Amino acid sequence: MLRVGVCVSGGGTNLQAIIDRIGDGAIENASIELVVSNNKNAYALERARQAGIEAVALSPRDYESREAFHEAFMETLDAHRLDLVVLAGFLVILPPQMFPRYENRVINIHPSLIPSFCGTGFYGLKVHEAALKRGVKLTGATVHFVNEETDGGPILLQKSVEVKDGDTPEILQRRVMEEAEWVLLPQAINLIAGGRVRVEDGKAVIEEG
Ligand code: GRF
Repeated sequence: MLRVGVCVSGGGTNLQAIIDRIGDGAIENASIELVVSNNKNAYALERARQAGIEAVALSPRDYESREAFHEAFMETLDAHRLDLVVLAGFLVILPPQMFPRYENRVINIHPSLIPSFCGTGFYGLKVHEAALKRGVKLTGATVHFVNEETDGGPILLQKSVEVKDGDTPEILQRRVMEEAEWVLLPQAINLIAGGRVRVEDGKAVIEEG
């Protein structure tokens, strides 16, 4: 059974998709052992509680230093003996202790087709504002392994989404979430839980089922 921890900062719709896919069996052989947020008011924590999952709020503001927060964050993850850490809208830079300790065991969902519209400053609506400003006809979402470089790790899954005339950033964000994010993240977790993913020469390889 793959022990999964999910890191969140906001509404938790990606977390909800994972919870629902475990519930309906689309994700096999995985369990969410922990949901942690830097934002104690994140609705994602409420979603976790409603699903009977341990929900922990750890805010950097609650610690005298960033280093103290990092220590608490790592202790919380390590205590749950996680096989996989999923960043689902997590807006905090990971502690340096995460790597190499959790190398190739952290994945992130990013709301664009990396390498477009990613890296420092590209998160949430800002990603979709940039896509609309550039006038791309296709955008989408990417699940990638996380390393020290923002949005820089091996790409695991991508799914394209059409940009439509009249799209606002909010409309486009919702379409990308519905058509891509909420599909890809559960799919990625299921592949990893099924032992079908490995990282080779900096590239993610999916083995036939
Ligand atoms: C979404 O915009 C997603 O693209 C990005 O962070 C946000 C998370 O939303 N990764 P939610 O908290 O999962 O609803």
